[in-house]
Amino acid sequence: MSDFEPFYDVNRTYDDNYADGPFGAFAQALKAGDAAGSPAAGSPAESAAVPAGVAGSPASGSPATDVPAGAASIPAGPLLNARYTTAAFRMGFDLAVYKTVRSRAWGCNPFPNVLAVHPKSKTGELTPGSAELDEGVLADTNYQLPISISNSFGVPSRDPDVWQPDMRDAIAAAGPGQLLVPSFQGSRAEGMTREEYIADHVRTARLVCETGAGLMEMNTSCPNEGHNRLLCHDAHLVGEITEAVKNEIGDRPLVVKLAYLPDDLDIERMVRETAARGTVQGFATINTISAKLVDANGDQALPGEGRDRSGVCGAAIRSAGLDMVRRLAAVRDRMGLDFTIVGVGGVIRPDDYTAYREAGADAVMSATGAMWDANLAREIKASLA
Ligand SMILES: Cc1cc2nc3c(=O)[nH]c(=O)nc-3n(C[C@H](O)[C@H](O)[C@H](O)COP(=O)(O)O)c2cc1C
Repeated sequence: MSDFEPFYDVNRTYDDNYADGPFGAFAQALKAGDAAGSPAAGSPAESAAVPAGVAGSPASGSPATDVPAGAASIPAGPLLNARYTTAAFRMGFDLAVYKTVRSRAWGCNPFPNVLAVHPKSKTGELTPGSAELDEGVLADTNYQLPISISNSFGVPSRDPDVWQPDMRDAIAAAGPGQLLVPSFQGSRAEGMTREEYIADHVRTARLVCETGAGLMEMNTSCPNEGHNRLLCHDAHLVGEITEAVKNEIGDRPLVVKLAYLPDDLDIERMVRETAARGTVQGFATINTISAKLVDANGDQALPGEGRDRSGVCGAAIRSAGLDMVRRLAAVRDRMGLDFTIVGVGGVIRPDDYTAYREAGADAVMSATGAMWDANLAREIKASLA
């Protein structure tokens, strides 16, 4: 894989990637577009190709959110700023999610932030709840296809004074049929009350609205509630937060990013507390699956306290993502609702995109797969043509 350069360079720090990226084909797309004086994407014909009625879907967007039907996209994470999101548009991705922002500047976990992971099973997949996740999964710098990695960033954010103008530029760079989706989350500071925590979500949503954003995504799936404890494990609190956020953002559609929830009752509870009450118009799922990471000697792979476990993404979590989307779609049917489902997790090849669509996803996103294959959106579109 020596001749290939992911657009996020795992061998550099987060700050270096923020300042100097994207790399590889994304950098070339950015340069070519700038030289052509284009504010945005590839040709309009290319960007319109997927949204119009892919795989039997209606030509219009999903009813709840207007997410382009069948969109092939990049979720929150690897697109650090407007240069990354603009490059993603130019490479034919329909939705580009701007990496999760906060109400205040927030530091990144120490380097390294990414390692390759190698599950034991023949399929290379990890099963949620399996012993391997607690016993240890081998993690090193040997990146192999089909790619599985761990990412450990701690959801860093620039100060709003920096990300707001940049997000405005990112929104302006979307071409026909494309959409910039900001991701945001609340920040839990020491000693914060429940009310203050809810208010921080509302304040961040307001800051996002000020950039001119429409549809936005709220992250409830990163471990900000303590070790291995996620906001989406508390459906009632997510319900309270989304009600407050929805009061702030009005008609703008709100998508909630969920982690893998093993129990159908927890999915139902989440839907009842949010989408069924009209505060949420869609769900994006899944985020990473937490695993203990070990090196070849069985020692902790990522240096530093609290980093014995980290989130795994890429090919290893594809089955878990498909399972979650299938069960969420079943809940949608049972409850007679029409919220949008954005399928995420282990989309590496065009077949994975199709599997998510068949599982009930209205749009499909790839973080790790797109990092290691900048042409993934074009390959997906070619496979559907
Ligand atoms: C480098 C990197 C950074 C990420 N950062 C975020 C983030 O800030 N917010 C978020 O909601 N998800 C984040 N994610 C999770 C992805 O959005 C996605 O849910 C997960 O990686 C599973 O998709 P994949 O298998 O295609 O990578 C990140 C993922 C990667 C690879």
